[in-house]
Amino acid sequence: MNIILTINSTKHEIACAPSESLLSVVRRLGYYGVKFGDEGGLSGADTVLLDGKPVNAGSMLAAQAEGHLVVTIEALGEHPEQGWKKTDGLNPLQQAFVESGAIQCGFCTPAQILAAKALLEQNPNPSEEQVREAISGVLCRCTGYLKPVQAVLKAAAVMRGDEPFRVDTINWDFGAPKTDAPMGGFDSPQLAGMMTRPKVVVTPESQTWQTVGKPEKKVDAVKLVQGKPAFTADMDARGMLYAKVLHSPHAHALIKKIDASKAKELKGVAAVLTFQDIPRVVYSTAGQSDPIPGPLDTFSLDHKVRFVGDRVAFVAAESLEIAEKALMLIEVEYEILDSILDSREAMNPDAIRIHDEPEYVNFADSNPEKNLAAHIRIDIGDVEKGFKEADHIFEAEYEVPKVQQVSIEPHVCVTYWDEDDRLVIRTSTQVPFHVRRMLAPVLNLPVKRIRVVKPRIGGGFGGKQEVLMEDVPAHLTIATKRPVIYEYTREEEFIAARSRHPMRVKMKTGVKRDGTITANAMYALSDTGAYGCHALTVTGNTGHKAMALYVGDGEYRKSPNIQFYADVVYTNTPPAGAFRGYGVPQGYWPVERHMEKIARALNLDPIDFRLRNTIRPGEYHPFSTAWNEGREPRPEIVQTVGLEMCVAQGKAAIDWDSKYGNEVWRNSPSTALRSAQGGSHLKKGIGVAMVMQGTAIPYLDMGGASIKMNDDGSFNMLVGATDLGTGSDTVLAQMAAEVLGVPLEDMICYSSDTDFTPFDKGAYASSTTYISGAAAVKAANVVAERIKVRAAMILNAGKQVDKETGTQVYEAEEIRLENRLAIARDGKTVSFTEIALHSLHKDQQEQIMGVASYVSPVSPPPFAAQFAEVTVDTETGAVTVDKLVMAVDSGVIVNPLTASGQIEGGMTQALGYAVCEEMRYDDKGDAIERDLDRYHIFRADEMPELETIFVETFEPSHPFGVKAVAEIPMDGVAPAVGNAILDAIGVNVDVIPTTPERVWRAMKKQ
Ligand code: FES
Repeated sequence: MNIILTINSTKHEIACAPSESLLSVVRRLGYYGVKFGDEGGLSGADTVLLDGKPVNAGSMLAAQAEGHLVVTIEALGEHPEQGWKKTDGLNPLQQAFVESGAIQCGFCTPAQILAAKALLEQNPNPSEEQVREAISGVLCRCTGYLKPVQAVLKAAAVMRGDEPFRVDTINWDFGAPKTDAPMGGFDSPQLAGMMTRPKVVVTPESQTWQTVGKPEKKVDAVKLVQGKPAFTADMDARGMLYAKVLHSPHAHALIKKIDASKAKELKGVAAVLTFQDIPRVVYSTAGQSDPIPGPLDTFSLDHKVRFVGDRVAFVAAESLEIAEKALMLIEVEYEILDSILDSREAMNPDAIRIHDEPEYVNFADSNPEKNLAAHIRIDIGDVEKGFKEADHIFEAEYEVPKVQQVSIEPHVCVTYWDEDDRLVIRTSTQVPFHVRRMLAPVLNLPVKRIRVVKPRIGGGFGGKQEVLMEDVPAHLTIATKRPVIYEYTREEEFIAARSRHPMRVKMKTGVKRDGTITANAMYALSDTGAYGCHALTVTGNTGHKAMALYVGDGEYRKSPNIQFYADVVYTNTPPAGAFRGYGVPQGYWPVERHMEKIARALNLDPIDFRLRNTIRPGEYHPFSTAWNEGREPRPEIVQTVGLEMCVAQGKAAIDWDSKYGNEVWRNSPSTALRSAQGGSHLKKGIGVAMVMQGTAIPYLDMGGASIKMNDDGSFNMLVGATDLGTGSDTVLAQMAAEVLGVPLEDMICYSSDTDFTPFDKGAYASSTTYISGAAAVKAANVVAERIKVRAAMILNAGKQVDKETGTQVYEAEEIRLENRLAIARDGKTVSFTEIALHSLHKDQQEQIMGVASYVSPVSPPPFAAQFAEVTVDTETGAVTVDKLVMAVDSGVIVNPLTASGQIEGGMTQALGYAVCEEMRYDDKGDAIERDLDRYHIFRADEMPELETIFVETFEPSHPFGVKAVAEIPMDGVAPAVGNAILDAIGVNVDVIPTTPERVWRAMKKQ
């Protein structure tokens, strides 16, 4: 059928199928700011305005939009400078999103802005609550919504012509006497309440810097706020085919017979592939360095399926609809096998075996005969001796669930042969270099014939640290010679992507009467699902990070007694993998719940008890002496620990001293909750948790950077580091700009193309700012040296005669770089533009450039104190989290705007882990949660108050003193909430999420 659509004032006459969605049509027409987030419109990424009202383009037919005005983000504003053509610039909403740091990955941003636009057209002066409600239909997994809400309120003020907001978005603390300014809140009185600004307690070392430490705007923000076609799926290619995968309906089965002939005959089908059609190559999908620290147990396609959702066949067709029809025509005869759905059953001596393929390759202590993907035994000191020396022994069991990363952009990949017969893989990945290396044998191509390009990524959170699905379109491109796109549906994200390892954890702790920990032991039974990707390293991290925090006091501090044992078992459930925090959140739920119980049982102050036993500067990281992911341990001293200051700052922010143990406060629920739910059955509680993470993997993680100077004195910086929305392009450019003495706008950053950028291990292990940042600094130093020598030559400064060659040389030490100028000791200056033109065109020509890489011998841990305030309904068990405060020592903060966004978003994700997120399966192994309705992530209108405080320390192992930020906010929220529930109602809930049912049952049991 032919329809006429009016989109952004342009009339389009187009042919479309009656069943084609508006989303499909607008994207076909090139309006790529409208995104696919899920098939039900529940993510809201597909929001457009229809006659001024937000609607989900994926949930309505294109034909239904005929006769209406459709508005997409492309109608709003654009870059103000377009060469000789000037434009009106960005719309105030877009501008406010850029300035407020409201954009992380930017995948949800166009939809949020459109929803806000609809609100402001109806109500130019909305309250915070109204803004939250207006954007509540657009899910964001990155930001925690605080900055987007601030951006909308700011834009509203600008559009009304009110007083402009204060530019300073950070609450700085330079250690000077306190000002009267409140901790949170902009100056405008209507923006009190939740409009908190992140606080930075600044370390003296960073106070003179120009760019590092400043809330610079993200370098990709202007692009993202316009909805530019920057993501993987926004690419169009002539003759593109659409891929689909037939997934197993059985948890464990052999494929006895598979017949794809009918599917192949369907008009429009270009290829159908089964295990009979492609090489059988065993590999691991875990995106990690070589050699992969885990078993090789996976095939692109196999004659056995091991979970509901496992792959059976691939199809490529002219359209998605044809590909879906073809799937239904593939005839498969299965022999159904017994399955294991519970981790406890996997280790039974008579349990069935999930991996019996002869190609299986063991790593370390994996043992497929026992369904063991990994087996960990770490002993530090002597726990048995420590238990004997204790006055009290505390033992308990805890449980943490399987949860999903839920990046709003699903996994997506486009593959094609280029004109040189090289396979190009454009993919939404955190690990482009690992993708290239790992897929080469699977595709039977040498590494040099593969190019992996990483465009912008719509969130990853570890889920894209997996070579999960790139092989599907790659095999189909090889089969058809045509470009192929494969994009996961949201259902596929739940049934066929990766997730967090669920664990059952036992704790045993010995404590003296005075609160000294004498020994601490943890056993974790971890469920890797059907494949062992990340099995060893995720679960190893559970002990390595969570059990390292408490070393004991006195003599135990010098020689702690710590034990961490774990078994990581195969089950017939979707595989687990990497997820922000990488095993550490699983460890801190038991550790910090356990510490709380011990403190209360011994009648000790929970904060004093913790701080008495936590690791201090100058002490060995206990696990560094005993374990290194299957490699030789390398003992490492922890140099900086800002935990005590974090506690002091966090306590003040949440007003701990007046609330903890205060019965009057406990029985005074907020007015809003009281009026909604009544009074006396509502109890308030406050809880704390202390956590540490790591920063990169020492002696392994490597990042590279190259920087070259352009004719105008600007710089191209190429990095292999992968910005998945975290702002790493921005912070790496900030560090290089600081070294070079230029504003951030002079650094043009391009990241992750295996053909053009240096190697980087990828975005994981909280390593990018530290490792790739140090590489950027090293490269910038090389460039700075060349600029200084050239400037000395131009200014005739520091001239020397080389004794060996007799030629004239110039001393770089004579010159400093500042404000795009090279400045000699005598005050003479030469601009970067003059230096660039001189070096490229005039005299002894050279390309000023530098290349460097960095690998660290240490992994300096960040620390944090996490606080939570909750209200528990004792009639229903419902828990409302009212406020979260996180005080973090992440070393020096390169960009407080992007870093606080990380903390706010991380706390929000962790909040879901604490109270509502869980992936469950029925007795056939079928997923119960398959969409964003049943699997709930927090919306803008459901959020508690969030407050972030950075307590800077200067980490001496990094040129700018940084440590990691990205993962630590995942660690402490759940135990702080669990401890606050205990504080409120005196009941221990040892399993998360703390759903109303679990809390209610725990109350009844007591
Ligand atoms: S910024 Fe909202 S989903 Fe990433």
